[in-house]
Amino acid sequence: MKGVVLAGGLGTRLLPLTKITNKHLLPIFDKPMIYYPLQTLISAGIEDIMIVTGGNNAGDFLRLLGNGKEFGLKDINYTYQEGEGGIAEALDLARNFADGEKTIIILGDNIIEKNIIREKEEFEKQKEGGKILIKKVPNPSSFGVPELVGEKVVGIEEKPEQPKTDYAVIGIYMYDSHVFDIISTLDRSDRGELEITDVNNAYIKNGTMTSSVLDGWWIDAGSSPENLAEATQLVIKTGVNNLT
Ligand code: G1P
Repeated sequence: MKGVVLAGGLGTRLLPLTKITNKHLLPIFDKPMIYYPLQTLISAGIEDIMIVTGGNNAGDFLRLLGNGKEFGLKDINYTYQEGEGGIAEALDLARNFADGEKTIIILGDNIIEKNIIREKEEFEKQKEGGKILIKKVPNPSSFGVPELVGEKVVGIEEKPEQPKTDYAVIGIYMYDSHVFDIISTLDRSDRGELEITDVNNAYIKNGTMTSSVLDGWWIDAGSSPENLAEATQLVIKTGVNNLT
């Protein structure tokens, strides 16, 4: 299985911190933010990884991560996203890299406490489709929110005013190669982006999406200055965990 870390975007929700750098390079305790999602993939046993970045600071990722030696990797693949076209558009840039294999995608600002080997192995055994991870949150309206019937996800709404559950779909997604066919069919949303929620809903509609509730804490560190600060607190308090 291949891995993709999405680290593009303008990071406007973190201005002025992101005026001169990419949000994924900002510190979370003693490391740049992107170290955490990268390590999450590596700890799950993924060795073939692509970083999708963009903006004026794309070259900094190469200087920071190089060929991945520090992480025990043989090399790292990089690609460049022009503009801010959304998560699904960024993922589409990894089409050739994925080369027909299953892929696990992690948003470069999503930090989790524990590792996801179990979920990754479950998905490896899954014949086709996708797998998402969900987590109970106090503020579901800020995220993609799953609608549940029992434990089954029957639909996802992106940042709904009246969320149907108090769960969020976290920024770790597992897909088979059909994902790129789905992306080709998407229209842009009102915010001008190709939405990952539309990709997930397509899998739900064709009955091939599974889900798991994530164990341990999760934080979308790049979505607000408060979350950025809280991520550092969580990492210090729990001495996070998937970095070894
Ligand atoms: C994105 C997705 C949303 C998901 C979230 C997780 O939101 O659109 O569905 O719940 O990531 O971090 P964004 O943070 O890009 O607004």
